[in-house]
Amino acid sequence: MRGIMEPAQQKHIVLGITGGIAAYKAAELARLLMKQGVGVQVAMTEAACHFITPATMQALTGRPVLINQWDAAENGMAHIAMGRAADAIVIAPATADFIAKLALGLADDLLSTMCLARDCQLLVAPAMNRQMWGNAATQRNVAQLARDGVDILGPVSGVQACGEEGMGRMLETEELAREVVVFLQSRSSVGRASARQGDVGLKPDLQNLSGVKMIITAGPTYEAIDAVRGITNRSSGKMGYAVAQAAQELGAEVTLISGPTALHKPHGVQAVDVISAAQMFDAVQQRVPAADIFIGVAAVADYRVAQASAQKIKKSDGNLILELLPNPDILAYVASLPQPPFCVGFAAESENLREYATAKRKAKNIPLLAANLAQQAIGADENELILFDDAGEHVLPRADKLTLARALLQHVAKLYKDRL
Ligand code: CTP
Repeated sequence: MRGIMEPAQQKHIVLGITGGIAAYKAAELARLLMKQGVGVQVAMTEAACHFITPATMQALTGRPVLINQWDAAENGMAHIAMGRAADAIVIAPATADFIAKLALGLADDLLSTMCLARDCQLLVAPAMNRQMWGNAATQRNVAQLARDGVDILGPVSGVQACGEEGMGRMLETEELAREVVVFLQSRSSVGRASARQGDVGLKPDLQNLSGVKMIITAGPTYEAIDAVRGITNRSSGKMGYAVAQAAQELGAEVTLISGPTALHKPHGVQAVDVISAAQMFDAVQQRVPAADIFIGVAAVADYRVAQASAQKIKKSDGNLILELLPNPDILAYVASLPQPPFCVGFAAESENLREYATAKRKAKNIPLLAANLAQQAIGADENELILFDDAGEHVLPRADKLTLARALLQHVAKLYKDRL
């Protein structure tokens, strides 16, 4: 399957689509994976073709979709070989029926035959009605697959296509794509027991942070004024979460201490939710003695209200004056510990980027600072970073935040290892 068209280091999956309503989401999943450089070969069951057309999947992936094992006996064998040569087979959505087939080892169509004849990891994303999911037979089959070493991704609880609410919804496509990429990356950089010799990753020269303990702060903080109001900022948390995911991909043990955001936590990170800067500071203080690397991405509020009211403050005719007290500088505190972890700071500036960033790195006494222009970064999906370290400046050109986070982590890992 690794053919003439793609570079050798590219990872390939077979995306197996089975016959459930969530099949329509497979189109978006294929698109997201391809955007991240993963080669996608689609294989569908006959039932899946009732929910989404092979033409759609073929147009998106640029490859003919595999459906029928009897199309041509000769090709049937080649198709099975494709499953063998893939880095993973991902079944999304996986119906209760298909899961049952996998658990029993049945091979009565092309996709189930590919699964049975595979020589790679199988990742299964169940999607079904809550009662089908709760049925003892399904639970038994899923448990059997887990015992067989199959990765089960989801499901989650939520509103279902039939209008009912409960467990059985397929993981959101973005999260599924993330899971698949993390799996492919971890095979490349960390090397799972099952990884083939000489296997190369999405990026062949990836640094490995296997076993390195990392604390990442992310998002804004919220400083209460009264029971219903507070002071916060426009940080979305996207950059911090991307940094957490990139670190996770390299094998680090990540604790993500996050202020209030609307984002899903990257799979596998240890998540600690906080609201105020004081809570973030507490959470960091408790965990920092065990950390090897600390990355402060959070937009921590510099001030808190001196006397937050437990009740809603009523309107009056006069001015309302709030007294603000400075919050502790979490990054500066961590960097000043007697044996600090390797510290990385972020700086969002609205002007004089180079001057302020250089001064901030010095003031906080940290080896590396990533700076950007706040007006371009806040809430956006793309960004541009300049890294400041002892060697000078390094520009990470405009890209989506995950791409930037991966490049940043490569730089962090190199500097961290040089110091050991
Ligand atoms: N930071 C922190 N605790 C604070 C303030 C900032 O840990 N109370 C961290 C941030 O997570 C970031 C870095 O310090 O990594 C710089 O944050 P920034 O808000 O840009 O700088 P400040 O130190 O707050 O300075 P200023 O607001 O004057 O630019």
